[in-house]
Amino acid sequence: MNDKKDFLAGAGVNTRLSHIGNSPSDYHGFVNPPVVHASTVLFPDAKTMETRGQKYSYGTRGTPTTDALCEAIDALEGAAGTILVPSGLAAVTVPFLAFLSAGDHALIVDSVYFPTRHFCDTMLKRLGVTVEYYDPMIGAGIESLIKPNTRLVHTEAPGSNTFEMQDIRAITTAAHRHGCVVTMDNTWATPLYFKPLDHGVDISIHAATKYPSGHSDILMGTVSANAKHWEQLHETNIALGICGAPDDSYQILRGLRTMGVRLDRHQESTMTIARWLEERDDVARVLHPALPSFPGHDLWKRDFTGSSGIFSFVLKVDGPEQFKPKAHAFLDALSIFGLGWSWGGYESLAVHVGLSDRRICKAPSEGPVIRLQIGLEDVADLRRDIDAGFAAANAI
Ligand SMILES: Cc1ncc(COP(=O)(O)O)c(C=O)c1O
Repeated sequence: MNDKKDFLAGAGVNTRLSHIGNSPSDYHGFVNPPVVHASTVLFPDAKTMETRGQKYSYGTRGTPTTDALCEAIDALEGAAGTILVPSGLAAVTVPFLAFLSAGDHALIVDSVYFPTRHFCDTMLKRLGVTVEYYDPMIGAGIESLIKPNTRLVHTEAPGSNTFEMQDIRAITTAAHRHGCVVTMDNTWATPLYFKPLDHGVDISIHAATKYPSGHSDILMGTVSANAKHWEQLHETNIALGICGAPDDSYQILRGLRTMGVRLDRHQESTMTIARWLEERDDVARVLHPALPSFPGHDLWKRDFTGSSGIFSFVLKVDGPEQFKPKAHAFLDALSIFGLGWSWGGYESLAVHVGLSDRRICKAPSEGPVIRLQIGLEDVADLRRDIDAGFAAANAI
């Protein structure tokens, strides 16, 4: 059998998602790669062993299962190489360890995923790296913050919980003039709606826990590098001994097959609900970059080809003393929306967002921020559930 993959060049995204990272002729025609559980790999003779002269040499350095997933992610990201790590958080921390050394300065966007900030303020600090947070809307102005020892600029767009956009092209252009590495947490958009490496980013980070998994059951991160940065990223990963587990890698590859159609649905339902919320008197603001009313919408429109299923809104209240009671009343009245962290799965979720860690992008003053992850349920049912939340919040 011959795997004909020529059709993938120029094919639509769902065709590509259906056929990247598989090679049935290598596995007797079975459509999916096997799940290889491995530590030891045997060599045919001492010379091959000495020179590691065969494709696979040890379980931590890749298997046919992890290679199939990495190949698929490389194709989606346009990357020179991808490493797999056990969580989305590790997908941020491993490249930081790869490119930062004692004495370096790192610029981190202030709307960053909170555990990333925690890593910076604890581990990086302990390792002798100075961290400075910057305004997501800074754009080309990032250049004024770059010092002789600035080595890394970390971006995340839209930002966590408040969804600020960033001018990624302007930031990468300025950062590269000073020899900095630019990393981007692109989990919200996935490479289907934004391809960081095409916009000058060096390292694209993805919590595959979210949309690639899609079923709220697998933790995994992927880190994809351009050609200039691949070797150092790969070397660090080997030095740290971090690798993707075989069953999880298989499940993420499986999730990719339907990610396009799931994202279409997430996007459509989310936009319907976001627009509906914007019309409501009980809502002060909707924080969603695909809404024309949102500051940064122009950047989203210029650079992104779609939007996913997570956004926030600000509940309108009369004063700060009502923030928590009204937010809790809203959440406690929900039945379909679960109260839970993470996102990207098939089910809807709601969270009262805490923003006390912010230094520059302060929390909205009009009311509490509620983050919604819109799942694959029917929109009419979700609206009814949200209506019940508003009724409960209005009752106190
Ligand atoms: C933007 C972003 N990046 C990274 C992560 C971390 O992913 P994981 O939960 O797999 O560690 C999350 C998790 O919520 C996230 O929202």
